[in-house]
Amino acid sequence: MYSKKLRVVKNVEVIPGHRLMGLEAHELAMAAAPGQFLHVRCSETLDPLLRRPISVCLADRERGTVYMLYRIAGKGTELLARVKKGDFVDVLGPLGRGYSLPQKGDGVAVLGGGIGIAPLYFLLECIKGIYGPDTDGVSVFLGAAAYTAIPVLDQVRAMGFSVHTATDDGSGGFKGNVVQLAEEVLGGRYPDRVYACGPLPMLKSLGQALGDHPAAEVSMEEHMACGVGACLSCICRVRAKGEEPEYAHVCKDGPVFKLRDLCLA
Ligand SMILES: Cc1cc2nc3c(=O)[nH]c(=O)nc-3n(C[C@H](O)[C@H](O)[C@H](O)COP(=O)(O)OP(=O)(O)OC[C@H]3O[C@@H](n4cnc5c(N)ncnc54)[C@H](O)[C@@H]3O)c2cc1C
Ligand code: FES
Repeated sequence: MYSKKLRVVKNVEVIPGHRLMGLEAHELAMAAAPGQFLHVRCSETLDPLLRRPISVCLADRERGTVYMLYRIAGKGTELLARVKKGDFVDVLGPLGRGYSLPQKGDGVAVLGGGIGIAPLYFLLECIKGIYGPDTDGVSVFLGAAAYTAIPVLDQVRAMGFSVHTATDDGSGGFKGNVVQLAEEVLGGRYPDRVYACGPLPMLKSLGQALGDHPAAEVSMEEHMACGVGACLSCICRVRAKGEEPEYAHVCKDGPVFKLRDLCLA
């Protein structure tokens, strides 16, 4: 784990309200895995006091650059949006447990709701590296309120995957949410590996659709303070099959969990 001030090499708007920040971070780029996150200090002052968790959206190991894709949600991310190329940002990471990677040939479904695409983008890059050009068995489902609000859609398409889109307002692709879309496209037959990230209602409805799927993995969002398992602010409830629920730290035991182990009700 690294705690460093890293030089910003890029901080640009990708769609309204969403930005991509690149950090010069050779060691971090080598160490980061898809689904892991960085705990970012958004200001030089004590306001806001707490770091903000942002997923690693891509680790370019050749160039030594780590990217974060973020939605401007409040004070912390507003401050991040003001950071300029050449400035430094204080980052702790990579933190948490990420997604487990599929083996070449596994059928894969990837579902991202809104900014949930952020960790999945890195995962898709890794899947592309494993599968090479033969990505027929990989289906990607991305959704948002409107078509123009789906971040990095063109970039995901450029990776060569079959990408299906869902929008709440029907402005692009399926009218509805990504889980309904995946149900329709896959006809209820989910592949060996399912990966998701998105708002809690999306994860709940995916859990209902998938039932006891043994290998579905989702990234959970919780408010965080320490980011390393020391403060209890990010607790969620998990249950190994047939056992009583117990508490887990999203920051340390997750953020990626097997969907069937989570108590999402
Ligand atoms: C493991 C993890 C990875 C994440 N990855 C990304 C990412 O790649 N890109 C991205 O844009 N966002 C990501 N988030 C969410 C991001 O951390 C919050 O949007 C951010 O902390 C908001 O900070 P703020 O100061 O801008 O807004 P605040 O003023 O703190 O909050 C604005 C709104 O967002 C809600 N919120 C704040 N923090 C969280 C949180 N952790 N989970 C859910 N809701 C929250 C608040 O309740 C409030 O309604 C991630 C969260 C987690 C836990
Ligand atoms: S954020 Fe402190 S325990 Fe998870």
